[in-house]
Amino acid sequence: MSKYTSPLITLTISIILLAACTKKQAEEPKPVVPEKPGIQVSYAATIQPIFQARCAGCHAPGRKASAAWSFDGYGTVTANAARIKQVVLVSKTMPLGGTLSAADLQSIKDWFDQGMKQ
Ligand code: HEC
Repeated sequence: MSKYTSPLITLTISIILLAACTKKQAEEPKPVVPEKPGIQVSYAATIQPIFQARCAGCHAPGRKASAAWSFDGYGTVTANAARIKQVVLVSKTMPLGGTLSAADLQSIKDWFDQGMKQ
């Protein structure tokens, strides 16, 4: 064997092995990442629209129930979190004269549980 043959063979085998490995990796299915229970809920994207549609009619400043709770932005919700949780999630007396969908209730619960993200 010439003194160049052996390194050449080694190199060729290395390239073939490398190519085989790379191809194998590319073909392997991606591991399925289990979804976190409960999607991250934000005030701006999810909670504000629900409260705007379902609570503001009575609780916006100047409306008939604004004395009980004045709904006027993020701060007015977080500052009254305990009372809102109580009437929406526990006693379910609000929204007065109506009900929230199961999906809305879940979003509100998740939002409180996740620390009321703005
Ligand atoms: C149809 C009108 C109406 C709607 C809609 C409504 N409320 Fe009320 N809410 C009232 C009235 C009237 C009161 C005061 C009397 C009472 O507590 O029943 C009140 C009281 C409250 C209180 C004070 C409770 C306490 O014990 O201090 C909170 C908090 C509240 N509502 C939250 C909400 C939230 C959150 C929504 C929307 C999911 C909502 N309300 C929808 C009429 C309404």
